[in-house]
Amino acid sequence: MYFALRDMYACMFSKTGSSSARSLFVAMVTVMKLMLIAVIYVLLKHDSAFSGVFTPVIASRVLELSDRFLDIHKDGQWLVMMYAPWCAHCKRLEPIWAHVAQHLHATSIRVGRVDCTRFTSVAHAFKVKGFPTIVFLKGEQEFTYHGDRTRDEIVKFALRVSGPPVQEITKTQSFDTIKKERDLYFLYVGERSGPLWEFYHKTADVFQPHAFFYQSHPTVVSKHAPVENIPALFVYKENLHYNFSGHDIDNIEKLNETMYKWINAERFPTFPKVTRGNINQLFLTNKNLVLAVVEENQLEEIPPHMMRFKDMVESIIKSKREKYHDLIVIKVFAVSHFQFGWIASPDLVNSIAMMVLPLPSLIVINTTTNHHHIPEDETEKLTPHVIELFLEQIRNESAPRYGGNSWLIRIYRSWFELKTTLSAMWMGNPILTMVLFGLPAGFLSLICYGICCPDILDADDDEEDHPGANHMKKD
Ligand SMILES: *[C@@H]1O[C@H](CO)[C@@H](O)[C@H](O)[C@H]1NC(C)=O
Ligand SMILES: *[C@@H]1O[C@H](CO)[C@@H](O)[C@H](O)[C@H]1NC(C)=O
Ligand SMILES: *[C@@H]1O[C@H](CO)[C@@H](O)[C@H](O)[C@H]1NC(C)=O
Ligand SMILES: *[C@@H]1O[C@H](CO)[C@@H](O)[C@H](O)[C@H]1NC(C)=O
Repeated sequence: MYFALRDMYACMFSKTGSSSARSLFVAMVTVMKLMLIAVIYVLLKHDSAFSGVFTPVIASRVLELSDRFLDIHKDGQWLVMMYAPWCAHCKRLEPIWAHVAQHLHATSIRVGRVDCTRFTSVAHAFKVKGFPTIVFLKGEQEFTYHGDRTRDEIVKFALRVSGPPVQEITKTQSFDTIKKERDLYFLYVGERSGPLWEFYHKTADVFQPHAFFYQSHPTVVSKHAPVENIPALFVYKENLHYNFSGHDIDNIEKLNETMYKWINAERFPTFPKVTRGNINQLFLTNKNLVLAVVEENQLEEIPPHMMRFKDMVESIIKSKREKYHDLIVIKVFAVSHFQFGWIASPDLVNSIAMMVLPLPSLIVINTTTNHHHIPEDETEKLTPHVIELFLEQIRNESAPRYGGNSWLIRIYRSWFELKTTLSAMWMGNPILTMVLFGLPAGFLSLICYGICCPDILDADDDEEDHPGANHMKKD
Protein backbone atom coordinates (compact mmCIF):
# COMPACT_ATOMS: atom_id res chain seq x y z
CA MET A 1 0.00 0.00 0.00
CA TYR A 2 2.70 2.41 1.07
CA PHE A 3 4.79 1.56 -1.92
CA ALA A 4 1.87 1.89 -4.24
CA LEU A 5 1.19 5.37 -2.93
CA ARG A 6 4.83 6.33 -3.15
CA ASP A 7 4.96 5.12 -6.73
CA MET A 8 1.87 7.11 -7.47
CA TYR A 9 3.40 10.27 -6.14
CA ALA A 10 6.49 9.52 -8.11
CA CYS A 11 4.32 9.20 -11.21
CA MET A 12 2.46 12.34 -10.50
CA PHE A 13 5.49 14.54 -10.18
CA SER A 14 7.60 12.89 -12.80
CA LYS A 15 7.69 15.05 -15.84
CA THR A 16 7.27 12.13 -18.20
CA GLY A 17 3.81 11.16 -16.72
CA SER A 18 1.06 11.79 -19.24
CA SER A 19 -1.16 14.77 -18.45
CA SER A 20 -4.42 12.79 -18.72
CA ALA A 21 -3.21 10.35 -16.07
CA ARG A 22 -2.28 13.27 -13.84
CA SER A 23 -5.68 14.94 -14.10
CA LEU A 24 -7.33 11.57 -13.45
CA PHE A 25 -5.27 11.28 -10.31
CA VAL A 26 -6.18 14.79 -9.15
CA ALA A 27 -9.86 14.06 -9.73
CA MET A 28 -9.57 10.86 -7.73
CA VAL A 29 -7.87 12.58 -4.81
CA THR A 30 -10.61 15.19 -4.75
CA VAL A 31 -13.34 12.53 -4.73
CA MET A 32 -11.60 10.68 -1.92
CA LYS A 33 -11.23 13.83 0.13
CA LEU A 34 -14.94 14.46 -0.22
CA MET A 35 -15.69 10.89 0.78
CA LEU A 36 -13.49 11.14 3.86
CA ILE A 37 -15.24 14.32 4.91
CA ALA A 38 -18.61 12.58 4.44
CA VAL A 39 -17.48 9.61 6.55
CA ILE A 40 -16.21 11.84 9.34
CA TYR A 41 -19.43 13.82 9.27
CA VAL A 42 -21.57 10.67 9.47
CA LEU A 43 -19.48 9.25 12.31
CA LEU A 44 -19.62 12.47 14.30
CA LYS A 45 -23.37 12.75 13.84
CA HIS A 46 -23.74 9.15 14.92
CA ASP A 47 -21.68 9.72 18.05
CA SER A 48 -23.63 12.72 19.26
CA ALA A 49 -26.97 10.91 18.83
CA PHE A 50 -25.42 8.16 20.85
CA SER A 51 -24.43 10.11 23.92
CA GLY A 52 -27.92 11.61 23.93
CA VAL A 53 -29.49 8.20 24.36
CA PHE A 54 -27.11 7.05 27.02
CA THR A 55 -27.28 9.88 29.51
CA PRO A 56 -30.79 9.38 30.96
CA VAL A 57 -30.03 5.75 31.73
CA ILE A 58 -27.56 6.67 34.43
CA ALA A 59 -30.48 7.41 36.70
CA SER A 60 -32.17 4.06 35.98
CA ARG A 61 -32.08 0.85 37.98
CA VAL A 62 -29.59 -0.78 35.61
CA LEU A 63 -26.37 -1.64 37.43
CA GLU A 64 -23.19 -0.60 35.63
CA LEU A 65 -20.85 -3.54 36.08
CA SER A 66 -17.10 -3.82 35.69
CA ASP A 67 -14.68 -6.74 35.50
CA ARG A 68 -15.14 -7.27 39.22
CA PHE A 69 -18.48 -8.78 38.20
CA LEU A 70 -16.53 -11.95 37.41
CA ASP A 71 -15.96 -12.46 41.16
CA ILE A 72 -19.62 -12.15 42.15
CA HIS A 73 -21.66 -13.43 39.19
CA LYS A 74 -22.33 -16.77 40.86
CA ASP A 75 -24.09 -15.12 43.81
CA GLY A 76 -27.79 -14.66 43.21
CA GLN A 77 -29.50 -14.14 39.88
CA TRP A 78 -28.30 -11.77 37.20
CA LEU A 79 -29.74 -10.53 33.95
CA VAL A 80 -26.88 -8.86 32.14
CA MET A 81 -26.54 -7.10 28.83
CA MET A 82 -23.10 -7.22 27.27
CA TYR A 83 -22.77 -4.19 25.07
CA ALA A 84 -20.39 -2.05 23.09
CA PRO A 85 -20.86 1.72 23.00
CA TRP A 86 -20.58 1.85 19.19
CA CYS A 87 -23.24 -0.75 18.45
CA ALA A 88 -26.53 0.58 17.12
CA HIS A 89 -28.58 -2.40 18.35
CA CYS A 90 -27.28 -1.77 21.88
CA LYS A 91 -28.33 1.83 21.56
CA ARG A 92 -31.85 0.75 20.63
CA LEU A 93 -31.98 -1.75 23.48
CA GLU A 94 -30.89 0.81 26.06
CA PRO A 95 -34.32 2.35 26.93
CA ILE A 96 -35.92 -1.11 26.83
CA TRP A 97 -33.28 -2.37 29.22
CA ALA A 98 -34.12 0.41 31.67
CA HIS A 99 -37.77 -0.70 31.53
CA VAL A 100 -36.79 -4.32 32.08
CA ALA A 101 -34.81 -3.31 35.18
CA GLN A 102 -37.77 -1.29 36.43
CA HIS A 103 -40.09 -4.24 35.86
CA LEU A 104 -37.90 -6.78 37.63
CA HIS A 105 -37.08 -4.44 40.50
CA ALA A 106 -39.41 -6.23 42.93
CA THR A 107 -37.86 -9.64 42.19
CA SER A 108 -34.53 -11.05 43.29
CA ILE A 109 -33.16 -10.71 39.76
CA ARG A 110 -30.50 -8.02 39.45
CA VAL A 111 -30.32 -6.28 36.10
CA GLY A 112 -27.00 -4.90 34.88
CA ARG A 113 -24.85 -4.15 31.91
CA VAL A 114 -21.19 -4.48 31.03
CA ASP A 115 -19.29 -2.36 28.54
CA CYS A 116 -17.35 -5.13 26.83
CA THR A 117 -14.99 -2.74 25.07
CA ARG A 118 -13.69 -1.61 28.46
CA PHE A 119 -13.93 -4.91 30.31
CA THR A 120 -12.82 -7.39 27.69
CA SER A 121 -12.18 -10.06 30.33
CA VAL A 122 -15.93 -10.24 30.95
CA ALA A 123 -16.66 -10.62 27.24
CA HIS A 124 -14.04 -13.34 27.14
CA ALA A 125 -15.39 -15.17 30.20
CA PHE A 126 -18.93 -15.32 28.77
CA LYS A 127 -17.78 -16.01 25.20
CA VAL A 128 -19.61 -12.99 23.85
CA LYS A 129 -19.70 -13.20 20.06
CA GLY A 130 -21.94 -10.29 19.16
CA PHE A 131 -23.50 -7.18 20.67
CA PRO A 132 -25.74 -6.93 22.49
CA THR A 133 -25.65 -10.33 24.19
CA ILE A 134 -28.22 -10.91 26.92
CA VAL A 135 -27.42 -13.57 29.50
CA PHE A 136 -29.18 -14.81 32.59
CA LEU A 137 -26.90 -16.17 35.31
CA LYS A 138 -28.03 -18.36 38.16
CA GLY A 139 -25.26 -20.06 40.12
CA GLU A 140 -23.47 -22.32 37.69
CA GLN A 141 -26.25 -22.03 35.14
CA GLU A 142 -26.11 -19.66 32.20
CA PHE A 143 -28.91 -18.94 29.70
CA THR A 144 -28.42 -16.81 26.62
CA TYR A 145 -31.42 -14.92 25.30
CA HIS A 146 -32.14 -15.17 21.57
CA GLY A 147 -35.69 -13.83 21.34
CA ASP A 148 -37.12 -10.48 20.34
CA ARG A 149 -35.63 -7.54 22.19
CA THR A 150 -38.87 -6.23 23.62
CA ARG A 151 -39.51 -5.53 27.29
CA ASP A 152 -42.25 -8.13 27.67
CA GLU A 153 -40.33 -10.94 26.01
CA ILE A 154 -37.14 -10.27 27.98
CA VAL A 155 -39.03 -10.03 31.29
CA LYS A 156 -40.88 -13.29 30.57
CA PHE A 157 -37.61 -15.00 29.74
CA ALA A 158 -36.04 -13.83 33.01
CA LEU A 159 -39.02 -14.97 35.06
CA ARG A 160 -39.05 -18.39 33.39
CA VAL A 161 -35.41 -19.19 33.96
CA SER A 162 -35.20 -17.69 37.43
CA GLY A 163 -37.31 -20.45 38.99
CA PRO A 164 -37.09 -24.24 38.75
CA PRO A 165 -38.13 -25.75 35.37
CA VAL A 166 -41.54 -26.69 36.79
CA GLN A 167 -43.04 -24.25 39.29
CA GLU A 168 -45.52 -25.52 41.82
CA ILE A 169 -48.89 -23.86 42.37
CA THR A 170 -50.14 -24.39 45.91
CA LYS A 171 -52.92 -21.83 46.23
CA THR A 172 -56.05 -21.30 44.15
CA GLN A 173 -55.39 -17.55 44.16
CA SER A 174 -51.96 -18.00 42.58
CA PHE A 175 -53.60 -20.00 39.83
CA ASP A 176 -56.06 -17.14 39.23
CA THR A 177 -53.15 -14.70 38.91
CA ILE A 178 -51.28 -16.98 36.54
CA LYS A 179 -54.38 -17.35 34.36
CA LYS A 180 -54.60 -13.59 34.15
CA GLU A 181 -50.92 -12.83 33.56
CA ARG A 182 -49.68 -15.63 31.35
CA ASP A 183 -50.91 -15.95 27.81
CA LEU A 184 -49.48 -19.44 27.38
CA TYR A 185 -48.44 -22.07 29.92
CA PHE A 186 -48.37 -25.78 30.61
CA LEU A 187 -50.00 -27.32 33.65
CA TYR A 188 -49.51 -30.79 35.06
CA VAL A 189 -52.13 -31.87 37.57
CA GLY A 190 -51.13 -34.68 39.90
CA GLU A 191 -48.40 -36.04 42.15
CA ARG A 192 -44.73 -35.41 41.43
CA SER A 193 -44.05 -39.02 40.51
CA GLY A 194 -44.71 -41.55 37.77
CA PRO A 195 -43.63 -41.64 34.13
CA LEU A 196 -45.86 -38.74 32.99
CA TRP A 197 -44.35 -36.45 35.63
CA GLU A 198 -40.83 -37.64 34.91
CA PHE A 199 -41.03 -36.91 31.20
CA TYR A 200 -42.87 -33.66 31.81
CA HIS A 201 -40.10 -32.50 34.11
CA LYS A 202 -37.40 -33.57 31.63
CA THR A 203 -39.09 -31.77 28.75
CA ALA A 204 -39.71 -28.66 30.87
CA ASP A 205 -35.99 -28.57 31.56
CA VAL A 206 -35.32 -28.36 27.82
CA PHE A 207 -37.93 -25.72 27.05
CA GLN A 208 -37.63 -23.64 30.21
CA PRO A 209 -36.38 -20.48 28.41
CA HIS A 210 -39.34 -20.64 26.01
CA ALA A 211 -42.43 -21.49 28.07
CA PHE A 212 -43.91 -21.53 31.58
CA PHE A 213 -44.38 -24.94 33.19
CA TYR A 214 -46.49 -25.47 36.32
CA GLN A 215 -47.59 -28.35 38.48
CA SER A 216 -50.51 -28.43 40.87
CA HIS A 217 -53.02 -30.62 42.67
CA PRO A 218 -56.65 -31.38 41.72
CA THR A 219 -58.01 -29.54 44.76
CA VAL A 220 -56.17 -26.34 43.82
CA VAL A 221 -57.18 -26.20 40.18
CA SER A 222 -60.52 -28.02 40.24
CA LYS A 223 -62.34 -24.79 39.42
CA HIS A 224 -60.50 -24.34 36.12
CA ALA A 225 -59.36 -27.75 34.93
CA PRO A 226 -61.23 -30.96 34.17
CA VAL A 227 -59.59 -33.41 36.55
CA GLU A 228 -61.32 -36.74 36.12
CA ASN A 229 -58.19 -38.57 35.05
CA ILE A 230 -55.21 -37.84 37.24
CA PRO A 231 -52.41 -37.26 36.34
CA ALA A 232 -53.25 -34.98 33.44
CA LEU A 233 -51.38 -32.47 31.34
CA PHE A 234 -52.80 -29.33 29.73
CA VAL A 235 -51.70 -26.33 27.78
CA TYR A 236 -53.55 -23.05 28.32
CA LYS A 237 -53.64 -20.47 25.57
CA GLU A 238 -56.03 -17.85 24.25
CA ASN A 239 -58.34 -18.56 27.19
CA LEU A 240 -58.77 -22.16 26.13
CA HIS A 241 -57.10 -25.33 27.25
CA TYR A 242 -56.10 -28.45 25.41
CA ASN A 243 -55.13 -31.73 27.00
CA PHE A 244 -52.31 -34.08 26.23
CA SER A 245 -53.76 -37.45 25.40
CA GLY A 246 -50.56 -39.17 24.25
CA HIS A 247 -50.27 -41.10 27.51
CA ASP A 248 -53.48 -42.94 26.80
CA ILE A 249 -51.47 -45.36 24.72
CA ASP A 250 -49.69 -47.94 26.85
CA ASN A 251 -46.36 -47.39 25.25
CA ILE A 252 -44.04 -45.89 27.84
CA GLU A 253 -41.04 -45.98 25.51
CA LYS A 254 -42.71 -43.66 23.06
CA LEU A 255 -44.21 -41.45 25.75
CA ASN A 256 -41.21 -39.16 26.06
CA GLU A 257 -41.05 -38.67 22.31
CA THR A 258 -44.78 -38.00 22.00
CA MET A 259 -44.69 -35.56 24.89
CA TYR A 260 -41.61 -33.80 23.56
CA LYS A 261 -43.33 -33.34 20.20
CA TRP A 262 -46.56 -32.19 21.82
CA ILE A 263 -44.89 -29.58 24.02
CA ASN A 264 -42.66 -28.44 21.18
CA ALA A 265 -45.73 -27.95 18.98
CA GLU A 266 -47.97 -26.39 21.62
CA ARG A 267 -45.53 -23.86 23.04
CA PHE A 268 -46.58 -21.34 20.38
CA PRO A 269 -49.85 -19.46 20.21
CA THR A 270 -52.30 -20.69 17.58
CA PHE A 271 -51.56 -17.78 15.26
CA PRO A 272 -48.32 -16.11 16.42
CA LYS A 273 -46.58 -13.15 14.91
CA VAL A 274 -43.41 -14.50 13.37
CA THR A 275 -40.35 -12.34 13.93
CA ARG A 276 -36.59 -12.54 13.65
CA GLY A 277 -36.53 -13.48 17.33
CA ASN A 278 -38.84 -16.50 17.19
CA ILE A 279 -38.54 -17.82 13.63
CA ASN A 280 -35.64 -20.08 14.59
CA GLN A 281 -37.73 -21.62 17.36
CA LEU A 282 -40.64 -22.11 14.95
CA PHE A 283 -38.31 -23.90 12.58
CA LEU A 284 -37.62 -26.43 15.36
CA THR A 285 -41.24 -27.64 15.23
CA ASN A 286 -40.50 -29.51 11.97
CA LYS A 287 -43.97 -28.58 10.80
CA ASN A 288 -45.14 -26.74 7.74
CA LEU A 289 -45.23 -23.04 8.58
CA VAL A 290 -48.30 -21.45 7.00
CA LEU A 291 -47.59 -17.73 6.92
CA ALA A 292 -49.74 -14.77 6.01
CA VAL A 293 -47.23 -12.19 4.77
CA VAL A 294 -48.21 -8.57 5.41
CA GLU A 295 -46.37 -5.35 6.05
CA GLU A 296 -46.47 -3.02 9.04
CA ASN A 297 -45.64 0.65 9.04
CA GLN A 298 -43.46 2.30 11.71
CA LEU A 299 -46.37 2.42 14.16
CA GLU A 300 -47.01 -1.31 13.77
CA GLU A 301 -50.20 -0.65 11.82
CA ILE A 302 -51.29 -2.94 9.01
CA PRO A 303 -53.23 -1.57 6.02
CA PRO A 304 -56.91 -2.73 6.00
CA HIS A 305 -56.73 -5.00 2.93
CA MET A 306 -53.73 -6.83 4.41
CA MET A 307 -55.50 -7.05 7.76
CA ARG A 308 -58.51 -8.71 6.07
CA PHE A 309 -56.22 -11.27 4.47
CA LYS A 310 -54.45 -12.00 7.77
CA ASP A 311 -57.79 -12.42 9.56
CA MET A 312 -59.00 -14.76 6.84
CA VAL A 313 -55.95 -17.01 7.26
CA GLU A 314 -56.40 -16.91 11.04
CA SER A 315 -60.05 -17.96 10.71
CA ILE A 316 -58.93 -21.19 8.99
CA ILE A 317 -56.77 -22.35 11.88
CA LYS A 318 -59.23 -21.14 14.52
CA SER A 319 -62.09 -23.12 13.01
CA LYS A 320 -60.14 -26.22 11.91
CA ARG A 321 -57.65 -26.58 14.72
CA GLU A 322 -58.07 -30.36 15.11
CA LYS A 323 -57.43 -30.82 11.40
CA TYR A 324 -54.32 -28.68 11.00
CA HIS A 325 -52.70 -28.11 14.36
CA ASP A 326 -53.43 -30.94 16.73
CA LEU A 327 -51.14 -33.83 17.23
CA ILE A 328 -52.75 -36.81 15.56
CA VAL A 329 -51.63 -39.92 17.36
CA ILE A 330 -51.64 -42.79 14.90
CA LYS A 331 -50.68 -45.97 16.76
CA VAL A 332 -47.55 -44.63 18.46
CA PHE A 333 -46.45 -42.05 15.93
CA ALA A 334 -47.47 -38.51 16.53
CA VAL A 335 -48.06 -36.48 13.39
CA SER A 336 -48.95 -32.86 13.16
CA HIS A 337 -48.53 -30.95 10.00
CA PHE A 338 -49.15 -27.24 10.17
CA GLN A 339 -48.25 -24.27 12.33
CA PHE A 340 -50.02 -21.10 11.28
CA GLY A 341 -48.77 -17.58 11.80
CA TRP A 342 -48.33 -14.16 10.30
CA ILE A 343 -45.28 -12.18 9.51
CA ALA A 344 -44.83 -8.43 9.15
CA SER A 345 -41.22 -8.43 7.97
CA PRO A 346 -41.52 -9.43 4.30
CA ASP A 347 -37.74 -9.38 3.82
CA LEU A 348 -37.48 -12.39 6.12
CA VAL A 349 -39.71 -14.55 3.89
CA ASN A 350 -38.44 -12.97 0.69
CA SER A 351 -35.02 -14.34 1.49
CA ILE A 352 -36.49 -17.80 2.06
CA ALA A 353 -38.57 -17.62 -1.12
CA MET A 354 -35.72 -15.89 -2.99
CA MET A 355 -38.16 -13.54 -4.64
CA VAL A 356 -40.08 -10.45 -3.70
CA LEU A 357 -43.51 -11.72 -2.66
CA PRO A 358 -46.54 -9.57 -3.39
CA LEU A 359 -48.26 -8.16 -0.30
CA PRO A 360 -50.31 -9.63 1.20
CA SER A 361 -49.54 -13.22 0.26
CA LEU A 362 -49.44 -16.75 1.54
CA ILE A 363 -46.38 -18.95 1.80
CA VAL A 364 -45.96 -22.39 3.32
CA ILE A 365 -42.48 -23.39 4.47
CA ASN A 366 -41.50 -26.97 5.21
CA THR A 367 -39.24 -26.38 8.21
CA THR A 368 -37.54 -29.77 7.86
CA THR A 369 -36.31 -29.39 4.31
CA ASN A 370 -36.62 -25.58 3.87
CA HIS A 371 -38.73 -26.09 0.78
CA HIS A 372 -41.57 -23.69 0.28
CA HIS A 373 -44.91 -23.73 -1.45
CA ILE A 374 -46.72 -20.78 -2.98
CA PRO A 375 -50.34 -21.03 -4.13
CA GLU A 376 -50.81 -20.74 -7.89
CA ASP A 377 -53.77 -18.39 -7.55
CA GLU A 378 -53.28 -14.70 -6.98
CA THR A 379 -53.89 -13.45 -3.47
CA GLU A 380 -57.28 -11.92 -4.37
CA LYS A 381 -58.58 -15.35 -5.34
CA LEU A 382 -57.54 -17.02 -2.10
CA THR A 383 -60.51 -18.00 0.04
CA PRO A 384 -60.51 -20.34 3.03
CA HIS A 385 -61.71 -23.10 0.71
CA VAL A 386 -58.90 -22.56 -1.83
CA ILE A 387 -56.31 -22.43 0.94
CA GLU A 388 -57.61 -25.65 2.46
CA LEU A 389 -57.31 -27.42 -0.90
CA PHE A 390 -53.80 -26.04 -1.20
CA LEU A 391 -52.85 -27.35 2.25
CA GLU A 392 -54.37 -30.70 1.33
CA GLN A 393 -52.08 -30.86 -1.72
CA ILE A 394 -49.10 -30.06 0.50
CA ARG A 395 -50.14 -32.80 2.86
CA ASN A 396 -50.35 -35.40 0.11
CA GLU A 397 -47.17 -33.98 -1.47
CA SER A 398 -48.77 -33.15 -4.81
CA ALA A 399 -48.21 -29.37 -4.53
CA PRO A 400 -45.18 -28.01 -6.42
CA ARG A 401 -42.32 -27.10 -4.12
CA TYR A 402 -39.50 -24.65 -4.51
CA GLY A 403 -36.20 -23.82 -2.88
CA GLY A 404 -34.74 -26.19 -0.34
CA ASN A 405 -31.33 -26.49 1.21
CA SER A 406 -29.00 -27.69 -1.54
CA TRP A 407 -25.74 -25.78 -1.97
CA LEU A 408 -26.85 -24.31 -5.28
CA ILE A 409 -29.99 -22.91 -3.66
CA ARG A 410 -27.96 -21.60 -0.73
CA ILE A 411 -25.59 -19.75 -3.04
CA TYR A 412 -28.51 -18.29 -4.92
CA ARG A 413 -30.14 -17.28 -1.61
CA SER A 414 -26.95 -15.49 -0.47
CA TRP A 415 -26.81 -13.70 -3.79
CA PHE A 416 -30.47 -12.69 -3.46
CA GLU A 417 -29.87 -11.42 0.08
CA LEU A 418 -26.82 -9.40 -0.98
CA LYS A 419 -28.79 -7.89 -3.84
CA THR A 420 -31.75 -6.89 -1.66
CA THR A 421 -29.52 -5.55 1.12
CA LEU A 422 -27.62 -3.39 -1.33
CA SER A 423 -30.74 -2.06 -3.01
CA ALA A 424 -32.34 -1.36 0.39
CA MET A 425 -29.20 0.51 1.45
CA TRP A 426 -29.23 2.48 -1.78
CA MET A 427 -32.90 3.42 -1.32
CA GLY A 428 -32.37 4.31 2.32
CA ASN A 429 -29.17 6.34 2.05
CA PRO A 430 -27.57 6.63 -1.38
CA ILE A 431 -24.76 8.87 -0.13
CA LEU A 432 -23.67 6.54 2.65
CA THR A 433 -23.82 3.60 0.26
CA MET A 434 -21.67 5.46 -2.23
CA VAL A 435 -19.20 6.34 0.49
CA LEU A 436 -19.11 2.78 1.83
CA PHE A 437 -18.54 1.18 -1.54
CA GLY A 438 -16.91 4.12 -3.26
CA LEU A 439 -14.15 4.43 -0.68
CA PRO A 440 -12.74 0.91 -1.00
CA ALA A 441 -13.28 1.12 -4.75
CA GLY A 442 -11.39 4.42 -4.78
CA PHE A 443 -8.52 2.95 -2.82
CA LEU A 444 -8.49 -0.09 -5.02
CA SER A 445 -8.32 1.94 -8.19
CA LEU A 446 -5.61 4.12 -6.67
CA ILE A 447 -3.60 1.02 -5.85
CA CYS A 448 -4.19 -0.36 -9.34
CA TYR A 449 -3.20 2.97 -10.76
CA GLY A 450 -0.09 2.92 -8.61
CA ILE A 451 0.83 -0.53 -9.79
CA CYS A 452 0.10 0.21 -13.44
CA CYS A 453 1.74 3.62 -13.36
CA PRO A 454 5.32 2.47 -13.98
CA ASP A 455 4.00 0.39 -16.87
CA ILE A 456 2.41 3.45 -18.38
CA LEU A 457 5.73 5.24 -18.09
CA ASP A 458 7.48 2.26 -19.60
CA ALA A 459 4.92 2.20 -22.34
CA ASP A 460 5.59 5.87 -23.02
CA ASP A 461 9.29 5.18 -23.16
CA ASP A 462 8.68 2.22 -25.42
CA GLU A 463 6.67 4.33 -27.75
CA GLU A 464 9.50 6.81 -27.93
CA ASP A 465 12.00 4.06 -28.52
CA HIS A 466 9.94 2.10 -30.97
CA PRO A 467 9.84 4.38 -33.99
CA GLY A 468 13.55 4.81 -33.68
CA ALA A 469 14.07 1.07 -33.52
CA ASN A 470 11.87 0.58 -36.53
CA HIS A 471 13.69 3.30 -38.26
CA MET A 472 16.97 1.67 -37.49
CA LYS A 473 15.65 -1.65 -38.84
CA LYS A 474 14.39 0.08 -41.93
CA ASP A 475 17.72 1.60 -42.36
C1 LIG B 1 -58.66 -35.05 26.72
O1 LIG B 1 -59.53 -34.68 25.66
C2 LIG B 1 -60.19 -35.75 25.06
C3 LIG B 1 -61.00 -35.21 23.89
O2 LIG B 1 -61.19 -33.86 23.96
C4 LIG B 1 -61.08 -36.44 26.11
O3 LIG B 1 -61.76 -37.54 25.52
C5 LIG B 1 -60.21 -36.90 27.25
O4 LIG B 1 -61.02 -37.45 28.27
C6 LIG B 1 -59.43 -35.75 27.84
N1 LIG B 1 -58.50 -36.23 28.83
C7 LIG B 1 -58.35 -35.69 30.02
C8 LIG B 1 -57.31 -36.28 30.90
O5 LIG B 1 -59.02 -34.75 30.41
C1 LIG C 1 -36.98 -41.27 24.80
O1 LIG C 1 -36.36 -42.27 25.59
C2 LIG C 1 -35.55 -43.16 24.86
C3 LIG C 1 -35.05 -44.22 25.79
O2 LIG C 1 -35.29 -43.91 27.13
C4 LIG C 1 -34.40 -42.39 24.22
O3 LIG C 1 -33.61 -43.26 23.45
C5 LIG C 1 -34.98 -41.31 23.35
O4 LIG C 1 -33.95 -40.52 22.80
C6 LIG C 1 -35.92 -40.44 24.12
N1 LIG C 1 -36.55 -39.51 23.22
C7 LIG C 1 -36.65 -38.21 23.47
C8 LIG C 1 -37.33 -37.39 22.44
O5 LIG C 1 -36.23 -37.72 24.49
C1 LIG D 1 -41.27 -31.76 4.42
O1 LIG D 1 -40.79 -32.37 3.24
C2 LIG D 1 -40.34 -33.71 3.40
C3 LIG D 1 -39.78 -34.17 2.07
O2 LIG D 1 -40.67 -33.95 1.03
C4 LIG D 1 -41.51 -34.57 3.86
O3 LIG D 1 -41.09 -35.90 4.05
C5 LIG D 1 -42.06 -33.99 5.17
O4 LIG D 1 -43.20 -34.72 5.57
C6 LIG D 1 -42.43 -32.54 4.99
N1 LIG D 1 -42.80 -31.99 6.29
C7 LIG D 1 -44.06 -31.77 6.64
C8 LIG D 1 -44.28 -31.20 7.98
O5 LIG D 1 -44.98 -32.02 5.89
C1 LIG E 1 -54.00 -34.45 -3.16
O1 LIG E 1 -55.08 -33.68 -2.67
C2 LIG E 1 -55.76 -32.91 -3.65
C3 LIG E 1 -56.79 -32.06 -2.95
O2 LIG E 1 -57.56 -32.82 -2.10
C4 LIG E 1 -56.40 -33.86 -4.70
O3 LIG E 1 -57.06 -33.11 -5.69
C5 LIG E 1 -55.27 -34.68 -5.32
O4 LIG E 1 -55.83 -35.63 -6.23
C6 LIG E 1 -54.47 -35.41 -4.25
N1 LIG E 1 -53.32 -36.03 -4.87
C7 LIG E 1 -52.90 -37.27 -4.56
C8 LIG E 1 -51.70 -37.77 -5.28
O5 LIG E 1 -53.47 -37.93 -3.71
